[in-house]
Amino acid sequence: MDTLVSSTKTMDVLQDLAKESSHLLRSVTGESATDTADRYSVWGPTYDKDLEGNYRGHIYSADVVAEVVPEDRRSTCRVLDMAAGTGKVGVELALRGFKKLEALEPAGGMLEVLKTTQVYSRIFQEYVGHGNNTVPSDYYDVVVTCGSLVKGHVPKEGVEDFLRAAKPGGFVVIVMRKSYVEKGGDFEDFDDYLSTLEERGLCNKVSRKVFPNYYFNHDGMAYVYKVV
Ligand SMILES: C[S@@+](CC[C@H](N)C(=O)[O-])C[C@H]1O[C@@H](n2cnc3c(N)ncnc32)[C@H](O)[C@@H]1O
Repeated sequence: MDTLVSSTKTMDVLQDLAKESSHLLRSVTGESATDTADRYSVWGPTYDKDLEGNYRGHIYSADVVAEVVPEDRRSTCRVLDMAAGTGKVGVELALRGFKKLEALEPAGGMLEVLKTTQVYSRIFQEYVGHGNNTVPSDYYDVVVTCGSLVKGHVPKEGVEDFLRAAKPGGFVVIVMRKSYVEKGGDFEDFDDYLSTLEERGLCNKVSRKVFPNYYFNHDGMAYVYKVV
């Protein structure tokens, strides 16, 4: 009986967390790219604190990048963190020995916090997936993005920007919420779209892994592609 009560309580807590996490995301999803960035700018000063203990996408992203780059190559490996937010992925990468980190992030309020991490040597205050950006082509050993493939954020076409920025033989690492790529999710055709990019000869799939507690109690999905 005690076990039943305690598991019912656990379910209640998990349901509350799921509601809370959906609320946070709804409040930053704008009608346009600039609207979304404006909302993140406001969130910037408290973003890290609000997610504390309930987000581990950044840790998993850095682990996945570290899996494809041997330790002795990390200090010279050029990494671009796309939709870098407050720099949480970069901080984790620096802890794993990466030293050549650059960031793209449109929201000024998020960038204010990112700059205090002092782990990025170049910052692009720009968007991906919406046309022009000034990120160099065929330049990075790794392009990583975490939490950016979200409705009203980076559209799936942004993956072509990631592939363009990475050099041939380099890697693109995409970490996002698993439910988004499932049937009925906002990115339900994402796997088909990635297959078309492979068919076009732009990249080859290295791995596709599910992991728990990406964001609150939601599972995460990590894709790794090698650029052709
Ligand atoms: C959920 S946050 C993730 C931030 C960071 N990667 C992390 O793991 O903490 C999503 C970020 O995507 C950025 N963003 C939204 N739309 C974007 C776009 N079209 N291009 C680039 N960044 C975008 C937002 O400003 C925000 O900082």
